[in-house]
Amino acid sequence: MQKVRIPLSAPDVDENDIAAVTAVLRTSQLSLGPQLAAFESEFAANIGTQHAVAVNSGTSGLQLCLRAIGIQPGDEVLVPSYTFIAAANVIRLEHALPVFVDVDAGSLNMDPERARAAITPKTRAMMIVHTFGRPAALDQLMAVAEERGLRVIEDACEAIGADFRGRRVGSFGDAGVFAFYPNKQITTGEGGMIVTNDLAIARRVRSLRNQGRTDSGDWLDHAEPGFNYRLSEMNCALGRSQLCRIEEILEQRAQVAAWYDEYLRDEPHVIVPELRIPEGRASWFVYVVRLSDAFRREERDRVVERMMERGIACGRYFPPIHQQPAYSGWTLRQALPVTESVGGRCVALPFFNRLTKSQVQEVSETLLAVIRDVKDE
Ligand SMILES: Cc1ncc(COP(=O)(O)O)c(C=O)c1O
Repeated sequence: MQKVRIPLSAPDVDENDIAAVTAVLRTSQLSLGPQLAAFESEFAANIGTQHAVAVNSGTSGLQLCLRAIGIQPGDEVLVPSYTFIAAANVIRLEHALPVFVDVDAGSLNMDPERARAAITPKTRAMMIVHTFGRPAALDQLMAVAEERGLRVIEDACEAIGADFRGRRVGSFGDAGVFAFYPNKQITTGEGGMIVTNDLAIARRVRSLRNQGRTDSGDWLDHAEPGFNYRLSEMNCALGRSQLCRIEEILEQRAQVAAWYDEYLRDEPHVIVPELRIPEGRASWFVYVVRLSDAFRREERDRVVERMMERGIACGRYFPPIHQQPAYSGWTLRQALPVTESVGGRCVALPFFNRLTKSQVQEVSETLLAVIRDVKDE
């Protein structure tokens, strides 16, 4: 196996980021200090919500939101199967029931009419995921939620900076969650952020991330059992420094997407994602192409393998959640024809801020050659 020459993702950490983290290390406050407070208020200002609460991952943020909106054991929560598994796992970890809803073939986000059809008397909430940084159909999904009295959590872990009709995603539901793993648009190493306009939710998640402590300020006053989901001062300093560059980062990523589009849009076996979307602005998390209907899942897997053999890392984003061993026998779902078809034909190409045009050209040309080889085998 050849060494990876072009990785799938790469964090973009500059000298200012390093200086910001180092400066924290020279202080005596490494947790629950000024960096946390500043990161939260700067993040809330960027998204346009009243509150932001930092946590140690996107997954823990989603879990705390489910608690805070009052999801109980046995409650049903609508979620796409065509997404990252954490979105469904947190529902099960709260002893509630993920109900898988199919996605729209164009946007790859939860289909509003399919969501409506999946509602039962036990449905309490909807987890709206903005997959790959493209805003979901928030107007229609929020209308369904309102009509049927459902709470809404937006999983915006892949979508920092995406807009829907002029408003940031993450600010529409009862709460929204962002994530900062190193493959994300901005990183804190590990980390996440909950945003909300609901003071009761903000207070509850702030307490739950910190062992259920009361806000009395006494370290040994606990109102309820909670977690240690805190984000350290070093992580927060890195997040602040990265957030300063968010617009530049989003532009760089949009440029990389435009280069891929230039090389791949006219290829009959490759379906490229839309560059411009009518409902607002996408925040490019990954660049995922779909192979044409002529390709079976095994052939897609061979394409990914052959790319790897040529030193180019690609991903199978996303294998549907309901087809994972962790969900074998899970019957709470609709028919998922779009999810199953798309899930077997997608290839995520290398995608990160500093990818150059010549690397994009090399990846694209290699992909086309590999596709031809796999079809000829
Ligand atoms: C849609 C979605 N939800 C949740 C998560 C979980 O975030 P984390 O890895 O920070 O726990 C991710 C991370 O990739 C994600 O893509």
